Amino acid sequence: MTDKSKYLLACESSCDETAFSLYNITTKSIVKSTIHSQIKMHARHGGVIPELASQFHFNIISELFYETLAETSIALEDIDYFACTNGPGLPGALLIGFTFVKTLAWSLQKPFFSINHLEGHLYSTFLSSSDIPFPHLCMSLSGGHSNIYLVESFDSYVLLGTTRDDACGECFDKIAKLLNLPYPGGKYIEEITKNNILKNSRNYTISNLQDGSISFSGLKTAVLYDIMKNNYYDKEKKKISDKAPIEFAQEIATSTQYVITHMIINWIYYFVEQYPHIKAITMVGGVACNEIIAHTVEKYFESHGIHFYRPEKKFCCDNADMIALVAAHKIKKNSNIENIYNQSILT
Ligand code: KG4
Ligand code: ZN
Repeated sequence: MTDKSKYLLACESSCDETAFSLYNITTKSIVKSTIHSQIKMHARHGGVIPELASQFHFNIISELFYETLAETSIALEDIDYFACTNGPGLPGALLIGFTFVKTLAWSLQKPFFSINHLEGHLYSTFLSSSDIPFPHLCMSLSGGHSNIYLVESFDSYVLLGTTRDDACGECFDKIAKLLNLPYPGGKYIEEITKNNILKNSRNYTISNLQDGSISFSGLKTAVLYDIMKNNYYDKEKKKISDKAPIEFAQEIATSTQYVITHMIINWIYYFVEQYPHIKAITMVGGVACNEIIAHTVEKYFESHGIHFYRPEKKFCCDNADMIALVAAHKIKKNSNIENIYNQSILT
C-alpha cells in the first residue's frame, strides 16, 4: 500500500450484532463496514438469549473480520489503530469482540482503544451530517437504554435524564409481544400505525416526568390491563388471544405509538426550556428509525426554531462505524498515545 492515510479497525459486539468498520482517519471516511445480525435467530425465542448471542458472535467474528478487509487495498498490517466497544452490553457478547480485536492489536503492537457503546450512539448523527451545531440535546433511544444528554462538544456531554424503568425500545417490544407481533416489535407497531390515524383511542396515560426522568413501563401495564379488561388475554400464551378483533389490536398499536411519541416530545421540551441556548436536537439509537416519532418531533421543534437531526437508519441501529467515529476522535486528540493493552472490559 502506498498511500499515507492512517487506518482504524473498529468492532461492535455488545448485543445481537457483530460489526466491523474499516475507517480512514486521514480522510474521515468509512472504507468498508460489515455487519452480521442475529435478530432472526433470537426472534424464534421472542427476545435476545445472552448465551446464544455470545455463541453467534464467536462463530462469525473471524469470518466477518476477513470479509471486512476483502476487496479493499488494506491488509491487516496496514491497520494503524484498533478499537472495540467495551460496554455497556451483554458481558459474554462484549468479551468476544473485545478479546478478538485486542488480540489483533497486541499481535501487531498497535494501539487499542476501548469505546463506550452509548458514546458511539451519542455522536452517531455525525456519520450522516458533519455540521450539527453545539451545544445540542441528544435523545438516545434503543432497546437497552433511553437517555437525554446535553452535548457541548465532541469531548463534553452531560446526562440530563434517563428512564426510571424500561427503555423506550423495550417498551415497544414488550407491547408488540403482547400483540403477538414478531421480535423486535417496534417497527411492526410503527407499520400498523402508518395505515391508521395516529390517535390515543385507548386513552392511555402520557406519563409525567419526575426530575427530568421518564417511565415507560406504565404504558406496557396499561396495555396489559386493557387487553385483560376486554377479555382478550390468553393466559397460557401470555399475549392477546386469537379471538381479539384486528381493530382492537390496531387501536392498541396506534395508541402506543401516539403515547410514546408525545412522551418523547414532552421529555425533550422539558430540557429545551431549561437549556434555551441549545442549537439543535439529535435523535439516535434503534427507535430513531421510527419515522412517525422522528417526523413529529422534527415538525414540533422546527416550529420552535430548533433544527432536528438523526443519522441514516443504518447508523441508528447498532453498528461499528459509530465506534470508529468516536475512536478516531480520541486518536486525533492523543496523537502520541502509547499502546494501551491494559484497558479491560471492566473499565
Ligand atoms: O440501537 P438498537 O439497534 O440496539 C440496542 O442498542 O438496543 O435498538 C433496538 C431497538 C429495539 O427495541 C427495536 O424494537 C427498536 O430499537 N426499533 C424501533 C424501530 N426500529 C427499531 N422502535 C420503534 N420503531 C421502529 N421503527
Ligand atoms: Zn445500541
